[in-house]
Amino acid sequence: MDKVRLAIIGVGGMGSAHARMMVEVEEVQLKAVADIDPGVAKSVGERYGVAFFTDYRQCIDSGLADAVIVATPHPSHPEVAEYAFSKGLHVLTEKPMAINPVEADRMIEAAKRAGKVFAVMFQMRTERPYRIARKAIEQGVVGEIMRTELVSAWYRNQAYYDSAEWRATWAGEGGGVLVNQAPHLLDMFCWLAGLPAKVTASTRTRLHDIETEDEAFALLEYANGAHGYLYTTTNEAPGTQRIEIAGDRGKIVIQDGQVTIRRVEPPLREFTLSASDMWSGPKTEPVEIEVEDMPAGHAQVTRNFARAILYGEPLLSPGEEGIWCVELASGIILSSKRNKAVSLPVDRAEYDALLRELKASSQPKRRVLGQRVSDPNIVR
Ligand SMILES: NC(=O)c1ccc[n+]([C@@H]2O[C@H](COP(=O)([O-])OP(=O)(O)OC[C@H]3O[C@@H](n4cnc5c(N)ncnc54)[C@H](O)[C@@H]3O)[C@@H](O)[C@H]2O)c1
Repeated sequence: MDKVRLAIIGVGGMGSAHARMMVEVEEVQLKAVADIDPGVAKSVGERYGVAFFTDYRQCIDSGLADAVIVATPHPSHPEVAEYAFSKGLHVLTEKPMAINPVEADRMIEAAKRAGKVFAVMFQMRTERPYRIARKAIEQGVVGEIMRTELVSAWYRNQAYYDSAEWRATWAGEGGGVLVNQAPHLLDMFCWLAGLPAKVTASTRTRLHDIETEDEAFALLEYANGAHGYLYTTTNEAPGTQRIEIAGDRGKIVIQDGQVTIRRVEPPLREFTLSASDMWSGPKTEPVEIEVEDMPAGHAQVTRNFARAILYGEPLLSPGEEGIWCVELASGIILSSKRNKAVSLPVDRAEYDALLRELKASSQPKRRVLGQRVSDPNIVR
């Protein structure tokens, strides 16, 4: 096999962008698409000259593909992925892999059982500033982490939320900013600083006419005693994407795509108790970290997925790590809805029960514009 034969399930905004990007990835060949909307399936299928289906099962059963990209609304990622694994296909799922941790567990198990490649579309892992930050942490530049901060502030208007029936409803999406806009930064935050052990959080719906949260904030506690703060919203313009990680030996700040790293010499623990001059502080100096050149973006994650299938290349964003943002988002929602501190990993039965309650309270939307267009600032 010199090319992976690929099908895309769900060819709305993101799925059709994946179809368009396939030409950049020489390791794959698009063979089929599926969408429950017959008009969408036909138009994308005909545009790329590939088979099209309205039922993802028929698409998977057709034997046309070795692997699928799942780009349906997030609550359906688990059922499509599990079906694909059960039929012996590899899976690259859009973020978040699931909205319910128990379903994310099942996807990881299904991939292991089938012995197939399982990846999640976290294209920010290909971006240079984050790769530099990750390498700095791996090299011990920060030392023991003492404090973290994540601000992931976006802007979305009401027309965005009205664009599809499923958006920002408990039944259709299973969450708001925490499961749609924030997952990339939640993933990055955990990729760099690890998963907190406990969250105490509050979520609310502040500016939009939607069911789910458009704002969340959380206090974080880590297993080593470090503390952190997290804020995410779709109510802010201009947006801010900021991660700060302060440690015993250094500090990393990533703000809107720029990374700054400084080393602390000697380490804080050592200096703090040994200094005799009451106004002295440890020296801090900038650190330069080199990473190899690599194209960034969605196509690069798809290329890596295909190369993992073809040549065993290590995955940039494996399914086992895709669960981190699901844990964090679920922990924050559970903490807010039950008004208590929540330990991570989230109690599966408790979160499952909460989601069932929220889904049962979900109402059909009064207004749906029926638009399928991905954010042109992210998907070009
Ligand atoms: N990685 C990124 O940068 C990025 C960007 C945008 C969206 N996404 C993710 O992509 C997914 C889709 O988002 P979108 O904005 O493209 O939504 P969308 O509404 O534009 O498209 C979803 C498509 O899936 C189809 N669909 C729904 N259920 C289906 C099913 N059971 N089988 C087949 N098709 C089905 C719908 O008809 C629709 O065409 C979401 O999980 C979202 O988080 C990722």
